Amino acid sequence: MTKVTHLYAHVPFCARRCDYCDFYSTAGSLTLAPAYVEAVIRELKEEDSLIGSLETVYLGGGTPTLLGEDLLLKLLAGLLEKSGSGAEVSAEANPATITPRLAARLAAAGVNRVSLGVQSFSVRLRANLGRAGDAAQVGAAMYALRAAGIDNLGLDLIFGIPGQSIPDLESDVRRVMALEPKHVSCYELSVKDGTSFQRQWAAELEKQAVSAPRFYEMVVDTMVEAGYNWYETSNFSLPGWECRHNLACWGGADYVGLGAGAWSTVGLERWRNVEDIGFYIDGGYRQERHRETLTPAQKDAEWAMLGLRLKTGITLAGYKGPIDPLQLNLLQRNGFLKTGGGKIYLTRAGRFVANEVCARLLQNWEETAAGGRGAA
Ligand SMILES: C[S@@+](CC[C@H](N)C(=O)[O-])C[C@H]1O[C@@H](n2cnc3c(N)ncnc32)[C@H](O)[C@@H]1O
Ligand code: SF4
Repeated sequence: MTKVTHLYAHVPFCARRCDYCDFYSTAGSLTLAPAYVEAVIRELKEEDSLIGSLETVYLGGGTPTLLGEDLLLKLLAGLLEKSGSGAEVSAEANPATITPRLAARLAAAGVNRVSLGVQSFSVRLRANLGRAGDAAQVGAAMYALRAAGIDNLGLDLIFGIPGQSIPDLESDVRRVMALEPKHVSCYELSVKDGTSFQRQWAAELEKQAVSAPRFYEMVVDTMVEAGYNWYETSNFSLPGWECRHNLACWGGADYVGLGAGAWSTVGLERWRNVEDIGFYIDGGYRQERHRETLTPAQKDAEWAMLGLRLKTGITLAGYKGPIDPLQLNLLQRNGFLKTGGGKIYLTRAGRFVANEVCARLLQNWEETAAGGRGAA
């Protein structure tokens, strides 16, 4: 069996939970962090037979940099034991946690890409998101990381925030671009039904959903005009600075995810670790909360769905599943997709409604819509 070359590790600790967030993490205490780091390294050793020379390692969260220098360095040393030369090593970071000393130690440990969560620079919108911290720290964090030699920096924004207007978002995008990151992710706020955030902002979220296409178009236009490559529906990079880890996962590569709540996909097998830090530490990673065997058709449709979100599209030869010929024709005639050179790819108009296009085109879409979890 071909060995896995992409590794994700989840650090489920945050200083404070943001009201909108649905990622697995706990806030308020780091008491379990030392035992957690040991458990992740133990899990990695137990999965050793699956893992080859790593091309990408992604440390995500939660807030990995909240672990503090020593624990973070210990975790990285464990994860990077099998990284190949030239591996992309990414870490998500909270700008407030980046000091010049931590930046230097991250660089020395092998981290060469850092993704900083901004979401919005607006104090008002951050308050509406229930997000702590001061976005003014982003510039200082980037300065420290660059001074330490980490140039490959990404910033994350969110649009569709309660109370957000087009000028608000324009101001966020302008501030992001002034900081000259190599990479920008800009996701529409997704809110889980039944959460208190959803109840609190129900009417406003509906309003935001109506504005979402305009927000999205403005972000794409501004980023592309500034020279960024719109390489995935929600991701932009200066040419050559695409996130290799995410590209691999979106391209259907196998990945192993370590840590509480992490997903892995190897061949047709997919599993998820328990979302419980204490249980995970106690060996709970051997009793996954969820395990499934994908059918080849599901795997195929998932590959196509994720591939069609990429600017480069998918090869026709690579997709074995059913494509609805009527829809293919209709979508082409209406200018949502193109075929050529043995590929299918979405046009600019199609990329704005990528989910809808995939739903029409790929007949196994429904079963696979939750796929592709290795990307961070
Ligand atoms: C899981 S977070 C981890 C990064 C870090 N904890 C932070 O918040 O900055 C990774 C990124 O996912 C995006 N994200 C998280 N929750 C989201 C949501 N409900 N809707 C849209 N994007 C979200 C944010 O842009 C965030 O920077
Ligand atoms: S958005 Fe980031 S910092 Fe906020 S709770 Fe989620 S993982 Fe933690």
